[in-house]
Amino acid sequence: MSGATHSSLQAEELFSLRGKTALVTGGTSGLGLIIAQGLLQNGASVLIASRKQERCDHAVGELQAYGKVLAIAADVTKAEDRWRLHEKIDQEFGGLSVLVNNAGANWGASLQDYPDAAFAKVIDTNLNSVFSLTRDLVPLLARAATDADPARIINIGSMDGIHVPVVQRVPTFAYSASKAALHHLTRTLAVDLASHHITVNAVAPGFFESRMTDYVFEHYKQDIEADCPLGRVGQPPEIFGVVAYLASRAGAYTNGTVIPVDGGTSISKGHRPWMD
Ligand SMILES: NC(=O)c1ccc[n+]([C@@H]2O[C@H](COP(=O)([O-])OP(=O)(O)OC[C@H]3O[C@@H](n4cnc5c(N)ncnc54)[C@H](OP(=O)(O)O)[C@@H]3O)[C@@H](O)[C@H]2O)c1
Repeated sequence: MSGATHSSLQAEELFSLRGKTALVTGGTSGLGLIIAQGLLQNGASVLIASRKQERCDHAVGELQAYGKVLAIAADVTKAEDRWRLHEKIDQEFGGLSVLVNNAGANWGASLQDYPDAAFAKVIDTNLNSVFSLTRDLVPLLARAATDADPARIINIGSMDGIHVPVVQRVPTFAYSASKAALHHLTRTLAVDLASHHITVNAVAPGFFESRMTDYVFEHYKQDIEADCPLGRVGQPPEIFGVVAYLASRAGAYTNGTVIPVDGGTSISKGHRPWMD
């Protein structure tokens, strides 16, 4: 390149996902469904996966107007189901440009009542399965990757892996621990996979409407809003916008980051009476 100008800095081209292939785990509801829609609307072919067949069928019905979408009923905590995902991607796409590790679970209980089985299940879903699925899909990611256009792994973490959540009034020990660990797994994988031309980043959402947040939205929405410097919950374009950046040419040199998308909630605690 000579001089200071470049031929292609138009946002439409910079953020295009045309021709990319993507897997979105937990793509049948909430944030995963939004991310799948956004990927499709910007030109990617998308495979979504979650445990329940009827949720897969319903999501495909909603998404097929936006582009080429496939679904598999698969539990990411099960090795045989992860292998079926691998096989499907190999058959249908040949390679994988974007892996969105989004499937997640939560459990809230007081310390004395917090069951070992619940702790293990949350860690297994939010952390262990991300590690295993990512490791198993590296050959397919590497196949779609080039130096100029790396394959992308986007882990959906949480602001609860950055701060200790309070508004739901019930501790979520395993969830916070799993998301903090996922954020650091993101960094260690980013270093390890860079030589394969694969970037690894995490998005750490604040509150967005979903099945997971139904209860807390119904009971404590005012507290959620009060805890957020922007005074509101997140909206679908605001989560997909960051994913679009990370998945496109615009984000090709971003690696090993954790990007909070929480209106500033995780960096601002306590009341702000002087602003009332
Ligand atoms: N909504 C928020 O405010 C918020 C904030 C921070 C972080 N997050 C994160 O965003 C991600 C999506 O959550 P959400 O809020 O959109 O919740 P959601 O609507 O409950 O979606 C969770 C998705 O994961 C799937 N899933 C759960 N366990 C699975 C498993 N073992 N194997 C495969 N799929 C599985 C679910 O489908 P099935 O039940 O059919 O398997 C569902 O599609 C999670 O990682 C969550 O921690 C959400």
